Amino acid sequence: MIDHVLISGEAIASRLDSLAREIDAVYAGGEIRAIGVLKGSVFFLTDLLKRVKTPVTVDFLQVRSYAGTESSGNIQLVHDLSMDVEDQDVVLFEDVVDTGRTLRRMLDLLSSRRPRSLRIAALLKKELPENADIRVDFLGFTIGPEFVVGYGLDLDEKYRNLPCVAVWNPKKGATP
Ligand code: IMP
Ligand code: MG
Repeated sequence: MIDHVLISGEAIASRLDSLAREIDAVYAGGEIRAIGVLKGSVFFLTDLLKRVKTPVTVDFLQVRSYAGTESSGNIQLVHDLSMDVEDQDVVLFEDVVDTGRTLRRMLDLLSSRRPRSLRIAALLKKELPENADIRVDFLGFTIGPEFVVGYGLDLDEKYRNLPCVAVWNPKKGATP
């Protein structure tokens, strides 16, 4: 059902080494409040933060798109943060920026809580006109519009634990 490996585990590991150095350079002498968007970002967040030397605290939030009005970008907060982000240097961790709707809503929500700074880390960003305005400060890889699974990314909650990012092939999925 997996068409091909798009990004190997080795390529991800080596990119995370570089991203950790970028993060340490930006926050030298400071502290980071890392916020993971459940559930997809968990694999990326933990693997990246293990490489970061800057002191870090971790929190999570979970959002869900309203089923009927997905195109309007309405999102529901399913699980809120456990700590206040006021005056914190926040890094929001996402698995993939697709249309960017989810991320825009979370940025609105977090900025309203007055963090000192707010940056984005994403494992993947799809190269699409809809998300061109979104600047990812710490980006793993830019990919095409294809649907991918693995390294936290799911299809109906499956495949998150693949050690790589792979392209899902709906034809193979239909006839395994
Ligand atoms: P957006 O709001 O359109 O940017 O969608 C973001 C969310 O959709 C991500 O956090 C993922 O949960 C999901 N998503 C988007 N593209 C993919 C994909 O290729 N594979 C798995 N999940 C995806
Ligand atoms: Mg998902």
